[in-house]
This record gives sequence, structure tokens and C-alpha cells, in this order.
Amino acid sequence: MILKSLKSKFSKNYKKKNWPGLIEAYKKYLPVDKKTPIITLKEGNTPLIFSEKLSNLMGNNTKIYLKYDGLNPTGSFKDRGMTMAISKAKEEGCEAVICASTGNTSAAAAAYAARGGLKSYVLIPDGFVAQGKLAQALMYGAEVLSIKGNFDEALEIVRELSDKYPITLVNSVNPYRIEGQKTAAFEIVDDLSFAPDWLCIPMGNAGNITAYWKGFKEYSKKYKNLILPKMMGFQSSGSAPLVNNIVVKEPDTIATAIRIGNPVNRDKAKLVKKESGGDFQAVTDTEIINAYKFLAKEGVFCEPASAASVAGLIKNKNRIKKDSKIVCVLTGNGLKDPDCAIKNNDAIFQKNIEPSLKNISKKLGY
Ligand code: F0G
Repeated sequence: MILKSLKSKFSKNYKKKNWPGLIEAYKKYLPVDKKTPIITLKEGNTPLIFSEKLSNLMGNNTKIYLKYDGLNPTGSFKDRGMTMAISKAKEEGCEAVICASTGNTSAAAAAYAARGGLKSYVLIPDGFVAQGKLAQALMYGAEVLSIKGNFDEALEIVRELSDKYPITLVNSVNPYRIEGQKTAAFEIVDDLSFAPDWLCIPMGNAGNITAYWKGFKEYSKKYKNLILPKMMGFQSSGSAPLVNNIVVKEPDTIATAIRIGNPVNRDKAKLVKKESGGDFQAVTDTEIINAYKFLAKEGVFCEPASAASVAGLIKNKNRIKKDSKIVCVLTGNGLKDPDCAIKNNDAIFQKNIEPSLKNISKKLGY
């Protein structure tokens, strides 16, 4: 009896306890039907965390929330798109998938392909993929080809390969990726009961900003009085083709996830900026690392590329109107790139310590 009443109270208060994965949760809004085999790792339903420290830093009664998509099953927002892309590939009878990647797409493609029983091939830029991401692609069983070139070159090759051979491309030119990723916007509105004034988001290939905007717009058909956010996209200054409206031949940034010089979704991104009245800006690697460290001090560890959204927010402090509600998207988990964290922190880390109580007490200042 007690258990039963507890259970009903629990499920009432925590409606998402038995979260089925985002396709099942949002199937009304997605191009799936009964024939679609749903390949899921229960992605989505990631936390929207209120950041007291950032809100205080911004002042003016601003409320800042972090959409922590690094808590998806493979540690990045790519899982949202990949559950859709792989489910649809399977529905269409495809047996192999391919992608170019700065790391996260390859990890997600490999995981969902493994789950769905498909073969996966990934092309990555040699030397510019964080360790955690590479480990994932290898463990999930992808065939990994590390090329002597950058992401843009890898993407050109996989696009041609998928045109020529029976391999499905799962980069964000695949429309199902955008469909899956738009659900993050739904979750934000479901959590807040409104859309934020600004959505701050890092941009690489610009698939995610396109997806969020699509999601907000679709929800505004359901919630007629939803006021759409200004879409604020941020790139690293060494790799800012959308900010400067150019092709960057040799993109360079510590945020390897967004080390992209010629985004395939350029035109869609431009339209998002225009329609939303938003802005695209560059942040330096130093600003990215400062934001990365700032977030960790509030207990939120994201990867460097994700911190670009917060670096951008901080840069715009003087433009933010009083009482604004802002969401910064944290696209990937900090554990993806342990090398960057170990090189860039302010921790006290003493090594080679003699293991005696007396010695350690002294080192700790007691
Ligand atoms: N943040 C992270 C952690 C990413 O991995 C990416 C893209 C982005 C932001 C940018 O998203 O491309 O939709 O604008 N990573 C891709 C990859 C390119 O291969 O993992 P976008």
C-alpha cells in the first residue's frame, strides 16, 4: 500500500521517470510511423540547469540556464540526431552508415549503428579529435579512417562516397539529424513553459542552430503565444566562417569539435540569424577556456567547444536587457577531452608526495 501510494506520487511529480527516448516522446513531431524501428539509447530529457553564478555575473536580474546535452548516452547532443538518422536508415534497409567528424558525430554514429546492427565508417582529421571521442568510436566498433586533412575535406569525401555507394551519410546534411536535434528546443520550452529571450549556442557545421530554430518554430504553432528567441551563434575566432562570411582554409582552435572552415549548413544558418533577429560572433580560445573553467566551478564540466556559448554570453553582458531569460547550450561532456582539462585548470595538484600522515597534513597546511 505504502509503496503504491509512493509510486503514484513519484510518477506524478517526475513524469519523465520512464523516459522512453526522444523519438517515442516526441513522435508527433517526427517523421516516424509504426514501420520505423526505433533505435534508441534513451537519449534526450537532459537537464536544464539554472546557473546562479552566471546569472549573478550577468546581473540585471538575468536568469541563465544551461541545457546540458553532454549528459546524453554518448556524451553529446549528436545522440538526438543519431537516434533518428539510424532508425530511418534501418527502416530504409540500409546496412552501412558513414560520417566525417571532429569526434562527437563519429562516437554517436558508431554507438547507434552498433545498437541497430549496422556497419559504421568514420573519417576524422588526424590529430584533432579528442581522446574520449576517439576511444568511443573505436569501442563501439566503427571502422575509423584518420585522414591527413581537416574536417571539411573529410566531409567532401564522405558526401561523394555516399552518392556512389550504398552507404547512408549521417552528417547533419541528413535531414533526419536535424529532426532529432530539434527536440532539444521542445525540452527547453517544456521545462520553462516559455522560450528564452536568447539561445546561445556554439556553431561548427551549423546543424544544431538550424535544428533548435526549427524546434522553436514548430512549438510556436502549438503554443500560439510563444515568443521565439534570438539565436546567438558563437564560433572560435580562429575558425569563424559564419561570423566573417568566408571559407576558412585552415581553421584553428583549441575547441576541436568546432574546428570547421566551411559549414555545410551555411545558408540555413544565415536564415536562422535573419528570421530570429539574432547574431553570430567570434570568441577567442582564451575566452572559451575562461568560460570552460567558470562553468566547472559551478560543477558543470563541458567540453571546450560547448563553452563557446557561455563565452559568447559573457561577451554580450552589456547588450542583455533587464530580466532576460537566457539558455546556453552545452553540447558535449567535459570528459570527452581530458587532455584539455588537465592542461587548463587552476587546481592545486601536487605530485610525488611521501604517503605519511605528517607529511600530507603539512602539505595541506594543517
Ligand atoms: N559542440 C560540439 C561538442 C560539437 O561536437 C559540435 C559539432 C558542435 C558544437 C557544433 O555543432 O556542427 O551542428 O554546428 N561537432 C561535429 C562532429 C562537427 O563531427 O562531432 P554543429
